[in-house]
Amino acid sequence: MNHALLDIHLTDGDADAALRADVRAGLTAIPKQLPPKWFYDARGSELFELITELPEYYPTRTERALLERSVDEIAVTSGADTLVELGSGSSAKTRLLLDAFFRSGSLRRYVPQDVSEAALRLAMDALAAEYPRLALHGVVGDFTTHLDRLPRGDHRMVAFLGGTIGNLLPEERTQFLRQLRAVLHPGEQLLLGTGLVIAEDVLVRAYDDSAGVTAAFNRNVLRVLNRELGADFVIDAFAHRALWDAENEWIEMRLVAERAMSVTVAHLGLRVQFAAGEEMRTEVSAKFRPAGVRAMLEEARFAVTRTWTDPDDRFALTLATAT
Ligand code: SAH
Ligand code: TRP
Repeated sequence: MNHALLDIHLTDGDADAALRADVRAGLTAIPKQLPPKWFYDARGSELFELITELPEYYPTRTERALLERSVDEIAVTSGADTLVELGSGSSAKTRLLLDAFFRSGSLRRYVPQDVSEAALRLAMDALAAEYPRLALHGVVGDFTTHLDRLPRGDHRMVAFLGGTIGNLLPEERTQFLRQLRAVLHPGEQLLLGTGLVIAEDVLVRAYDDSAGVTAAFNRNVLRVLNRELGADFVIDAFAHRALWDAENEWIEMRLVAERAMSVTVAHLGLRVQFAAGEEMRTEVSAKFRPAGVRAMLEEARFAVTRTWTDPDDRFALTLATAT
């Protein structure tokens, strides 16, 4: 790879310690829960890419259409020399932004950041071949704790796409935006993709597809625990469930124990019981209202520059500036 750098802020040792702490806390909590970042081992990242192509999963294609309409204005308005992307995954939609920034002539560097080293390496290899003149600086890290370790710069735009901000709980989301604002200079930008509140049946289908890919993705977290922590989850004994929580305005992903079970997590010396029908939360995906997006940004000292929404009001792309 030409001019490619890769910073690793999550060594295997850090990740192992964080996984242990999360799993111990989550499996002994009532109700049980697991944090979503552990979905994304190499297989989890591949399954997510398959999700983005499902007919029911509208967010990716809707956000892509919004980017197609807006990228030139974004690039010209921003004038950034560095594009930072949090939770960049395969960087698939990012190519639209990179191309627009090349047309406008300002971009020098792309900084993809992801917790999944496997996904990041794959994306960087492909980008290095496709964009030989672009300086690539990948960062393996956690956007909830490692924002202060992003490469410095004075004219950056931070993209946070895919509705991933909705995978943070409300307090985590507030913290995240505050921390992000603290590492930016006034005038630097944030490009935020958010899923909007829409009809319940459309939402639920997007997270419970007929081909069962989302179910496989959800269960993958149990495979990660079996492999990394010597757990003995019987994967097929857990069913996937996606439900709309109207009060919190989020989709909640759960794994349902189909029978009573005892599970051992060898590396933690932990044994936990599941009752038949017991549900464990593995992820939330919050949906927003346009006024709510504006309010959370303003509260974190970002001013909204412009918002794009699709004709069905399913998704919003918001360009904001650090004030
Ligand atoms: N931005 C891409 C991928 C979205 S899926 C898109 O719009 O299609 C969410 C991505 O965030 C995954 O690549 C996952 O590995 C990453 N991720 C999840 N939790 C993370 C965390 N805490 N820190 C950094 N990356 C995270
Ligand atoms: N950021 C994605 C979203 O909230 C992540 C995602 C899509 C996801 N489908 C999923 C996470 C299924 C867990 C299970 O839309």
